[in-house]
Amino acid sequence: MNLGIYVHIPFCVSKCLYCNFYSVTKLDLVNDYVLALVKEIKRESDKYKDYTIDTIFIGGGTPSVLPTGSISSIINTIKKHYKIAPNCEITIESNPNTISYTNALEWQNAGVNRVSVGLQSTSDRLLKKIGRAHTFNDFVLAIDNLKKVGFKNINADIMLGLPTQKQGDLRSTLKHCFRLGLTHLSAYTLILEEETPLYDLVKEGKLKLPSEGKTLNMFNYLLKQTGLCGYNRYEVSNFSLPNYECKHNLNCWNMCDYVGFGCASHSFVAGRRFANISNVQEYIANISSSKSVLEFEEQIEKNELIEETIMLGLRTTRGINLTLFKEKFKVDLLKSKQKQIENLTNLGLINIKDDYLFATTQGFYVLNQIIVDLVE
Ligand SMILES: C[S@@+](CC[C@H](N)C(=O)[O-])C[C@H]1O[C@@H](n2cnc3c(N)ncnc32)[C@H](O)[C@@H]1O
Ligand code: SF4
Repeated sequence: MNLGIYVHIPFCVSKCLYCNFYSVTKLDLVNDYVLALVKEIKRESDKYKDYTIDTIFIGGGTPSVLPTGSISSIINTIKKHYKIAPNCEITIESNPNTISYTNALEWQNAGVNRVSVGLQSTSDRLLKKIGRAHTFNDFVLAIDNLKKVGFKNINADIMLGLPTQKQGDLRSTLKHCFRLGLTHLSAYTLILEEETPLYDLVKEGKLKLPSEGKTLNMFNYLLKQTGLCGYNRYEVSNFSLPNYECKHNLNCWNMCDYVGFGCASHSFVAGRRFANISNVQEYIANISSSKSVLEFEEQIEKNELIEETIMLGLRTTRGINLTLFKEKFKVDLLKSKQKQIENLTNLGLINIKDDYLFATTQGFYVLNQIIVDLVE
């Protein structure tokens, strides 16, 4: 049985104006946090003795803010206490201004084989507008350091629909990513989250977002350019050169089991979903005194599992494997949703090929509607 491991690092140098992920800027807690994390990874290991770890994802927050030795310590603890697959994908998320030659070398030596860098845009004007703590030049230096120590599999996160962003900004961002030979791009359309400073700035009319139409045009431009440069869209927002799809991402969309460690991490194991407390101090205190850090847990009902499998599976361009679906749920999707499938196929929104049901390029524009039709 395979299992993914997710490790959450809830620290950032500063908070970006649009972000509502759980992270704090109290960097004086990082050493205590890493000690607690290592303890949690060790103490949970007995529960996962029968699993083989095929992906490890150290995400955040900003894992690259951790002091030297922390990432090695986390990865070595996992390697010591869990059974690791020989081709295990080990990813670290990072921000350009916290990647140095020294920490890149440490990650490489610890076994990290994929680095995800939060770029968002190559325009310093836009980076400033959204409160990023780095410049485009920081990104260029970061990629240079990553390549110097031997990293080949590098992702950049970029964003669309940023305040005052134009197609020319995106053109320049893509041009640099292609030129730098990045193997993977995650391109997220800005979600204006309530309770973020950006939300207030937009509501107060101090910042203006591009219209939906303009953002859609940018997305279409992105689709065209990534296609021309050999990147496959393998999920709604994810693009990779052949064979560089992110295994961790694919496992999540394919509803594979994963366990999360660290404050605010989420897990999904054998149909049970659970999450750790979202408060760093409390997390450290509870682990130090050998108390539970569980904040929430629920067993997912079969119907909900079916819905999630459809919802997440359709986000991938490969789609839902019909035989696996039938084996897992004892439900033949082609029969139970025969009418809806016929209708959506006739409209050119979905297709079936080689045992997979998937959304067509046209279907991706109305994915939510397709999902509603198939889960209702
Ligand atoms: C949570 S961050 C963690 C990695 C790293 N700290 C960074 O900033 O890249 C991962 C990615 O989420 C995306 N993200 C965060 N908030 C978002 C929002 N409100 N809308 C769209 N994407 C968002 C950004 O592209 C970011 O790179
Ligand atoms: S986007 Fe990344 S760097 Fe910015 S606040 Fe969120 S987690 Fe931190």
